[in-house]
Amino acid sequence: MLKSYHILLIMLVLGFTSCIRSEKKPGREYVPDMSNPYAYEAGSPNPIFKDGKSNQLAPEGSVGRGKYIYPLQQEEYERAATEIKNPFAFTAEEIDGEGKKLFKVNCAICHGDKGDGQGHLVQINKFPPPPSYLTEPLLSKPEGQRYHTLMYGKGLMGSHASQLNHRERWLVLSYVKSLQASAQPAAEAPAAPETTK
Ligand code: HEC
Repeated sequence: MLKSYHILLIMLVLGFTSCIRSEKKPGREYVPDMSNPYAYEAGSPNPIFKDGKSNQLAPEGSVGRGKYIYPLQQEEYERAATEIKNPFAFTAEEIDGEGKKLFKVNCAICHGDKGDGQGHLVQINKFPPPPSYLTEPLLSKPEGQRYHTLMYGKGLMGSHASQLNHRERWLVLSYVKSLQASAQPAAEAPAAPETTK
């Protein structure tokens, strides 16, 4: 019969013997990676780098993930024409979905749903009509300059740099291009009847 003092005795023996220190039998460790991680700690010495430190500064010119550094200054509108290019390849779904939505929310109030410069603010006489996307000079305006205008604004159009991120700016400009493309054949056809507003 196991009496309660037997159990106490077994626990005491186990308790004392389980902590015996021996180099040959180091015992078991629960999740050893936790107390002895393989990765270098931020403040620990590091033999791999020249200065012997684990904490390294990012190399010069690095751009954080999701961040974008606009390379041109406000005065460099001319240079934007050749140096700023759309780095994205959007699908038609992205342009007609998200791009169109961004345009309706941020731009159509002045530029109009079709991009003809007849937005709501123009209709109610609160804003002079912006130039139409569907005619020159905006029809063949280089995309880099369009982007520059979104970044810094131009004339009566304010900067939209804070409303849209890098990707959204190119997406909305791709939608502007699609508006221009879909209006092209109509412009060539003999004067299509104007739709009434
Ligand atoms: C407050 C009214 C207003 C809003 C909102 C607005 N624009 Fe404009 N936009 C203008 C005016 C006015 C111009 C003509 C600027 C000039 O050439 O002086 C213009 C010009 C442009 C041009 C031609 C740029 C160039 O370099 O000549 C593009 C492209 C453009 N807008 C796109 C957009 C997009 C995309 C949005 C939305 C993200 C937007 N605009 C929002 C009023 C507006």
